[in-house]
Amino acid sequence: MCGIFGCICENAVEVLLDGLRRLEYRGYDSVGIALLNNNNILIRKDKGKLEDFLKNLDFESLSGSIGIGHTRWATHGAPSRENAHPHLDCFGRIAVVHNGVLENFLSLREELIERGHKFSSNTDSEIIAHLIEEFVKMGLSLKDALRETINIVKGSIACAIITTLEPGKIFCYRRESPLIVGISRNGTFCSSDMPAIIPYTKNIAIVPEDTIVVIERNGVYSESSSGIERKLEFFETNLDLKSAERGGYPHFMIKEIFEQPRAISDTIKIPEVYLDRASKLLRDRIYLTGSGTSYHACLSTSYMISKILSIEAFPIISSELQEMIPNFDESTLIAVSQSGETADTLNAIRYAKKKNAKIVGITNTLGSSITMLSDAYICTQSGPEIGVAATKTFVTQLIALDLLFLRFGLISRRLNQSDYNKILDEMKKLPKIVEKILNQHQKIKEISLKYSSKQNAFFLARGSNVAIALEGALKLKEISYIHAEGYPAGESKHGPIALVEPGFLCIFIAPKDRTREKIIGNIMEMKARGAEIFSIITEGDEELKEISDSYFEVPQCYELFYPILCTIPLQLFAYYAATFRGFDPDKPRNLAKSVTVI
Ligand code: G6P
Repeated sequence: MCGIFGCICENAVEVLLDGLRRLEYRGYDSVGIALLNNNNILIRKDKGKLEDFLKNLDFESLSGSIGIGHTRWATHGAPSRENAHPHLDCFGRIAVVHNGVLENFLSLREELIERGHKFSSNTDSEIIAHLIEEFVKMGLSLKDALRETINIVKGSIACAIITTLEPGKIFCYRRESPLIVGISRNGTFCSSDMPAIIPYTKNIAIVPEDTIVVIERNGVYSESSSGIERKLEFFETNLDLKSAERGGYPHFMIKEIFEQPRAISDTIKIPEVYLDRASKLLRDRIYLTGSGTSYHACLSTSYMISKILSIEAFPIISSELQEMIPNFDESTLIAVSQSGETADTLNAIRYAKKKNAKIVGITNTLGSSITMLSDAYICTQSGPEIGVAATKTFVTQLIALDLLFLRFGLISRRLNQSDYNKILDEMKKLPKIVEKILNQHQKIKEISLKYSSKQNAFFLARGSNVAIALEGALKLKEISYIHAEGYPAGESKHGPIALVEPGFLCIFIAPKDRTREKIIGNIMEMKARGAEIFSIITEGDEELKEISDSYFEVPQCYELFYPILCTIPLQLFAYYAATFRGFDPDKPRNLAKSVTVI
């Protein structure tokens, strides 16, 4: 899991570092660049974040107009200078940056060592440089050597390579890991993602699976791994740089939380044709799968499907799916992933496909692997999400899933036209309601300050809000490092309650929906043991105000949408808790935005 970037342009050093800064959300335990200079390759790399790397960089000794760079999230080999990319062949003539995981690298590495190759790192990626070196030795061009290499190496690869043997070019290849290319009069670029490229050009192409690309100053050539020319489809992206940067907020996370009214509104506008295409694939048995926050969207939606459409749907954590479901005959798998690149989710899809499932993908990333593996997909309209903790992509996943199942309900006559219209009208009110909640961020900030020194918290709810309790707990623990557990409130008396003593923080999601009466009982159980109660309630719910030590009111809404509304204060709660405790919410330790390992 890493970010790769390459450029052929003036001031390549500056451009590379700028690009890597925008890719840091993909991993940030090491950073490195390689430049072609007077037919030498200059490498600078180290473990740690880009800002520390910059402090120690001897800019005077670096120049060039062709370079590649890398931000790393360790998979094989701990973070260290040696393991940081770029990696070189034995003669320092071929430099490689790689994003992905090479499955058969150990046996290939042994073979290469037997043939006399000297390895400088413990990474899987380094074998790419040595294999290319081998094929070049046999007389192949760099492109042909790359083709031979990728045909031997198993696993996911997005790589960029520069070489003194054929200066003036960057060689790239993409399989399973993302790669895009951009071209303008000012230069040519390749990158794992758009934010690194769009400051320089909006003319971009998403590199298809299994494609080799050769980038030169004035053009791009591409072909399949079997050597057949495959022209890239360039298009003008409408993403502006501002949407990929912080926009004046101190962190991406808070910027993205505040973008939610826009993200929801755009997602509601998903054209019906996409929803229809996906609804037609829904069969008698429906499974929903995702990882992390995306799984929580699956869980919440499964309740909605049962309540509104009276059909069962089964939410399954992606990494567990193979162990649970032996076959997918007459089944549809709805796979949810904001990045569209999460290895666990892609694996679950591949498995389900083999077992006859129809696949519907829900993702925020057009052109991602999930869009290629699915029979139909729906793209949420969040715009890029840079903060590692998913926020706006979660609420847009809920919206997209609601839209899909409402449409399915209508087509399958489980829902009549007038109910369908009524629910859609209610949904269209959400951007304004969410804005109202965001305008009260000061209130949640104060509550967060009050509890930010707690060591533990329970998040408790019933029904579809259980998913929101899990999501609230995940947000809090992943960025503030407060130990937090989400539980169905009814289940909390079967064990978790043993931890409750005076002052223990219990956060209840208690809007005015069908779960409210029972939740009151659960609050009383915790209160009786001295717990500190913070509740998310519906505006004007005096009874809940009375029994809670702190409360945050969300406006009244159609019952189906409370999970969305209750999510917003919990995101803010976690964000402020992290900042009060002195942590950077955009870069939680040990986590990465897109996890491309199993
Ligand atoms: C990582 C991220 C989580 C995210 C999960 C699934 O673990 O840190 O925030 O929810 O991956 O990501 P996806 O892109 O598949 O939604």
